[in-house]
Amino acid sequence: MKLKLSDFLKCMSASISVLMVTSLLAVTPAQAAGGGGPEIKRQVWSFNGFFGKYNKAQLQRGFGVYKEVCAACHGLKLLSYRNLVQVGGPEFSKEQALAIAKEATIIDGVDEDGEPKEREGKLSDRFASPFKNDTQARASNNGALPPDFSVIAKARTYHRHVPWYTEPYYWAYDMATGYEEKGVDYLYALLTGYKTPPRGMKLGDGMNYNEVFPGHQIAMAAPLSEDAVEYADGTPTSLNQHAKDVSAFLAWASEPHLNARKDLGKRVLIYLTILALLLFLAKRSLWARVKH
Ligand code: HEC
Repeated sequence: MKLKLSDFLKCMSASISVLMVTSLLAVTPAQAAGGGGPEIKRQVWSFNGFFGKYNKAQLQRGFGVYKEVCAACHGLKLLSYRNLVQVGGPEFSKEQALAIAKEATIIDGVDEDGEPKEREGKLSDRFASPFKNDTQARASNNGALPPDFSVIAKARTYHRHVPWYTEPYYWAYDMATGYEEKGVDYLYALLTGYKTPPRGMKLGDGMNYNEVFPGHQIAMAAPLSEDAVEYADGTPTSLNQHAKDVSAFLAWASEPHLNARKDLGKRVLIYLTILALLLFLAKRSLWARVKH
């Protein structure tokens, strides 16, 4: 028997429909979420989109939250105190950054007895770590290691609650809108995601329930509260505000040159637009005398 092309196509389309329907049924929301939990909301950040930039007042507030709360457990070892002065960051004055550095205790070399020597920090020093080593960090935190914050906003992400076959659509949408804040949105959701555990859920010893942390049990107790830190610029304090500001600060720490990158991008786009226009006009005048 000869197989006709139309039969073959019919057969193919039927199998594709069956496959799509079964996968629709198979991917329940709970599975797509990778273990449940609410969808992580996209926040409005000053640095959203192709042209968004960091807000220096927000970065200064975020640094305040980091220093007063998070720095007790989390290091930022790839950042130096001088980075706080850099354009495109919190842009503290040199004097302010020096005062911040001087509060830190830096271990530098050994004294005549061979003991580690301590001195106060200077602008060229990297941020001092809260613990001498990972073993000490774990020993102080119920066995869990507080991760270093240098690239945390880039190192974290989340999965959308959508069927897998719609993912390419979201990739294209994110590319078209310049969405690159998955990590920061996760940080904000984590910091505001401490809730009472659902009834019947047994938490491990010293663990806390968080609705967006994978597995929902996190060793870090809720670090923020309504009035965790006073803001020098008079911004009203709230848990959400603290979470927003510290997340923005961590986004900057992960990508300190974002402002410069976007500035350059803008200039390249303007340059290419003018170039395209000139090339178009040149082409028109070159071909004007040729019959076609
Ligand atoms: C008392 C110590 C302590 C303080 C203070 C603290 N943390 Fe943590 N943090 C931890 C520990 C411990 C972990 C590891 C948790 C785990 O693996 O279960 C952690 C993990 C994290 C993580 C990683 C979560 C993940 O997805 O892996 C982030 C982000 C974080 N903390 C943010 C913060 C921020 C922001 C602050 C300040 C507002 C802060 N932490 C203050 C101890 C602390």
